[in-house]
Amino acid sequence: MTLRFIDEPDAAAPIGVFDSGVGGLTVLAALRHQLPQENFIYLGDTARLPYGTKSSETVVRYALQSSTLLIDAGVKALIVACNTASAVALPTLRERFAPIPVIGVIEPGAQAAVRASRTSCIAVLATEGTVKGGAYQREILKLAPKAQVKAAAGQILVSLAEEGWTEGPLAESIAQRYLVSLLTPQTDVLVLGCTHFPLLSVTLAQVAGPRVQLVDSAHTTAKTTAIILCEKNLLAIHEQPYTKFWVTDAPERFARVGSRFLGESIDSASLRWVDLQNQVSKL
Ligand code: DGL
Repeated sequence: MTLRFIDEPDAAAPIGVFDSGVGGLTVLAALRHQLPQENFIYLGDTARLPYGTKSSETVVRYALQSSTLLIDAGVKALIVACNTASAVALPTLRERFAPIPVIGVIEPGAQAAVRASRTSCIAVLATEGTVKGGAYQREILKLAPKAQVKAAAGQILVSLAEEGWTEGPLAESIAQRYLVSLLTPQTDVLVLGCTHFPLLSVTLAQVAGPRVQLVDSAHTTAKTTAIILCEKNLLAIHEQPYTKFWVTDAPERFARVGSRFLGESIDSASLRWVDLQNQVSKL
């Protein structure tokens, strides 16, 4: 990848949001709620998901390629809506794309967890890649050095969320299997450290029990984005804001599965297949 100069961000430009697939739509929903008059381009790298089981070197490479597409489209900020990519690629993306603000989901998620915990015993349920990189553990300990943080990977929950099997005996018994060794009697916060897990929050809350508060990073990330855009004079007020959806594979599946994550249907007119050689083709 060649090095290039990145222009200063333009307040009128869209915000770029990037994820491995549909999961980051939970973050996009929170961003659109927080910033209703902004334009967004959401890129789901559906050709290469899941990121959660891949090596960090591969995820950094994928994240750089996907983010470059958004930066070349002129976005004014880049939201890394994927926990795995945030966990391993954020420093590289920030360095490569300065002065464009690059915001991940781990720091806001860790802040929300520390704020919510009274016992400082915090559990993190995430993908394998996020857990292995230790990013949540590091961020939480930066904010609360005495915290006890336990993390576990709940990979099957990603598939359950995409299948829509988020409640009922199957989801409960899988959640139970993961949480039984993750939660201690002192744990009072469970961080949903994967974009897919908010869809399972009813089941996870039920299995974790009433003493455990669930924290997801979508809302805190949206608030952090609003604060950063405001500080940098980059907020926009568009009369008729748009959201464009770009995917690297299987747009129909993205629209079908993604509408559950976004909480509304995804119109085919706003959806395009893109390749990572910078060719954008209309469906
Ligand atoms: N978006 C990913 C994350 O939040 C979950 C799906 C995947 O593994 O690609 O870590």
